[in-house]
Amino acid sequence: QNERAAYRLRYHLMAPSGWMNDPNGLIYFNGQYHAFYQHYPYGETWGPMHWGHGISDDLIHWHHLPVALAPGEAYDRDGCFSGSAVDDQGTLTLIYTGHNVIDPEKDVIVQNQNIARSRDGIHFYKANANPVIHQQPAGMGQDFRDPKVWRENGVWFMVVGATKHDQGQVLLYESANLEEWTYRGVLAQNDGGNEGYMWECPDFFKLGDKYVLLASPQGVEPEGDRYLNHHQTVYMVGDYVNGQFIRSSFTELDYGHDFYAVQTLLDGKGRRIAIGWMDMWESPKPSQKHGWAGAMTLPRELVLTEEGKIAMKPIEELTLLRQQSTPIGPLHVKHVHPILSSGNLVELEAQFALVDSDASAFGIRFCCAADGSEETVLRFDLLKHTVTLDRSRSGEGPGGARTVSIKSAATIDVRLFIDRSSVEVFINDGETVITSRIYPQETSTGMTVFAEGGSIVMPTCTVHKLKSIWSE
Ligand code: FRU
Repeated sequence: QNERAAYRLRYHLMAPSGWMNDPNGLIYFNGQYHAFYQHYPYGETWGPMHWGHGISDDLIHWHHLPVALAPGEAYDRDGCFSGSAVDDQGTLTLIYTGHNVIDPEKDVIVQNQNIARSRDGIHFYKANANPVIHQQPAGMGQDFRDPKVWRENGVWFMVVGATKHDQGQVLLYESANLEEWTYRGVLAQNDGGNEGYMWECPDFFKLGDKYVLLASPQGVEPEGDRYLNHHQTVYMVGDYVNGQFIRSSFTELDYGHDFYAVQTLLDGKGRRIAIGWMDMWESPKPSQKHGWAGAMTLPRELVLTEEGKIAMKPIEELTLLRQQSTPIGPLHVKHVHPILSSGNLVELEAQFALVDSDASAFGIRFCCAADGSEETVLRFDLLKHTVTLDRSRSGEGPGGARTVSIKSAATIDVRLFIDRSSVEVFINDGETVITSRIYPQETSTGMTVFAEGGSIVMPTCTVHKLKSIWSE
């Protein structure tokens, strides 16, 4: 295996090489899914931002298309930052932030909003009207980026991230033609709590009978088992009345180490599908030694639960990746039970029946080295009602454990996706999701289930070997 391929994921969307961060312009257009992303094609670190581009018929199998946007105009000279895509009467149109560094020493920047159009869905032309929004409203800070645009009752609306007096904000604009925009006011903001000084990558939509605002605040402080990083993706559920969003919650969307800048799309089946960046500004990135960094998460369908929370379910198309399925359960696990010895493109589907069990803790060890030197552990503590993803012995990476509270329930369902250097755990139909990167050796492929202080019943346990979507 060549050097560059070390740690490369096999069934996730990622750049052909170089750096990637946020998903951009997710859209279902002319019967196909397009995903763009923040991309620096010339190196493994963040640089002047381009938009990479992938296309798919099913959100699972992706093909690379040429880079869609590159910086270089007077208004986007230092980067084409994050944004979104719309179908403007058959014209695929991108709306993005132009980034301009005025004084690198003093950190002075100018950010504006721009559009680019395509006739063929591949080549994009920046509009003569750019920038379509020159600057932030008076009195606001210089951070003004990440437009997400949608159409409602024949009118275009935009939410865009902003800051005022070091409090994160989301601003609302409207337009009849995508070129002339009217500022409608502040849709939502940090009201002075631990909610960050700049709200990056906002997204706003109806889900069930509520409205949901997603944002990725910068500057959130860790609080007990809430929040992990300075950067954090959160969701707010609420009502939308006269251009105002009245929120009743502010909650982490994913509890892993590596999840940020999520964006959604509404697809042909009416599903609200979310994809995030599966890495993090703060995370050490061992893949950079091999010339690349970053990946997109698996697509997740957003669902509003009866309790008014958001669940992220793995989309049903993910079963297309299954190549060979081995049922192992039912199992009665007393101490340790091995379930897999080889393969690092794997989905585990497991159910734990707590009512029939007397264990005080149980879980799954995976990416285990034969000599015991490496393992990643997902451990449910039934006394504390928590789940922990522990990657302190996961291999080369940054380590660290993340613990979150979970609801008590009669059964716990787990779907665990491992793709070489990524882990995505979906608990109870996406009620709790944990996304992290790990960097084990290629040969660390063992998996076991375990129980502590008693035994645990597993009515079902199936290991699916998954296939690669890339030919490299
Ligand atoms: C979020 C972000 C965005 C910005 C982009 C730049 O991760 O900082 O706010 O548009 O990345 O690459």
